[in-house]
Amino acid sequence: MAHQLKARIISLGSYLPKKVLTNQDLERMVETSDEWILSRTGMRERRLAADDEFPSDMGAQAAIQALESANLNADNLDLIIVASMSPDYISPSTANLIQAKIKAEKAAALDIQAACTGFLYALSIARAFIEAGHYRYVLVIASEKMSAFINYKDRSTCVLFGDGAAAAIVSAQGEGLRIDALCLGSDGQLADLVKIPAGGSRNPATKETIEQGMHYFQMSGNEVFKHAVRRMSAAARECLAKAGLEEQDVSWLVPHQANKRIIDAIAKNFNIPEEKVYQTVHKYGNTSASSIAIALHELMKEQEFDEGEHLLLTAFGGGLTWGAAILTRIVS
Ligand code: ACO
Repeated sequence: MAHQLKARIISLGSYLPKKVLTNQDLERMVETSDEWILSRTGMRERRLAADDEFPSDMGAQAAIQALESANLNADNLDLIIVASMSPDYISPSTANLIQAKIKAEKAAALDIQAACTGFLYALSIARAFIEAGHYRYVLVIASEKMSAFINYKDRSTCVLFGDGAAAAIVSAQGEGLRIDALCLGSDGQLADLVKIPAGGSRNPATKETIEQGMHYFQMSGNEVFKHAVRRMSAAARECLAKAGLEEQDVSWLVPHQANKRIIDAIAKNFNIPEEKVYQTVHKYGNTSASSIAIALHELMKEQEFDEGEHLLLTAFGGGLTWGAAILTRIVS
């Protein structure tokens, strides 16, 4: 019988811009308070990219770190997949820009758009290419400059988002985090709940679209909140079942960092104690597609994992889209 290839994340990298936007800064920009933001979201501060810093720059930094940590050259890469809802351009792809920046001359390159679930969608594509034996090394990047699409006069959205990037190299060889299960879902009937109405071919940028603020990110936060808890919990449950695991088998939960109240509700649904729920929401806010990838990288830097330990990832975003993954630590 042919040897079955099993995809795993063999290295990670991340990049957070230097500029910090605190709740106190936001108090000076819109009618809000540190108390409101902290109690409703768990956020204290978030990072903002510089004026001349874009998803391709941040993604390239994260990619270089991941390549160094795997001891690989960019030449080894077969494919680059970038998940972003705030790409440098509609065309060319951010993946192409990163391919040029890191000089991955042999790699194919494409972008995907699944809002905050983008990293899991990109990971699933990487896994399929690796397990089909089609490619040896796939670089998955999530990179967001959400601040470019946020209206800093709209208090209902401007407090929530931050910028940042993360990268993962997926292969069938080497130690790392084996992708044991991955579950994805979507509901396009609810597309209107999270959107950037203008800038695409339906509403190309015009004086009118700009005057009406249609190029800014819009979200029905309250409605989205309910779906986020329900969908992430269901995806996590489906994924646990697929991997043949129970919730007590999970060493760490790494949820999408949209809101601490959403994270707490999911952890409660799974009886996972707070100290086993990895959180960056207080310091980076919601970095959309990058959120769980940044959290995963920070967790791996901070904690030692034994062979066989399981991590549960869950994500949710505009589309609507959602997903979950079970990663298992392997040393060979
Ligand atoms: N400061 C002070 N008051 C505010 C602020 C603010 N920054 N923002 C809203 N308010 C007010 C509202 O105007 C409202 O006032 P009103 O009652 O007088 O009308 C009140 O606070 C309550 O507003 P809600 O929207 O009901 O507040 P809620 O408790 O739902 O919190 C939040 C809002 C934080 C957005 C929450 O709904 C949430 O986290 N939603 C989920 C977001 C999410 O999961 N996003 C992921 C997908 S995003 C993507 O894919 C990129």
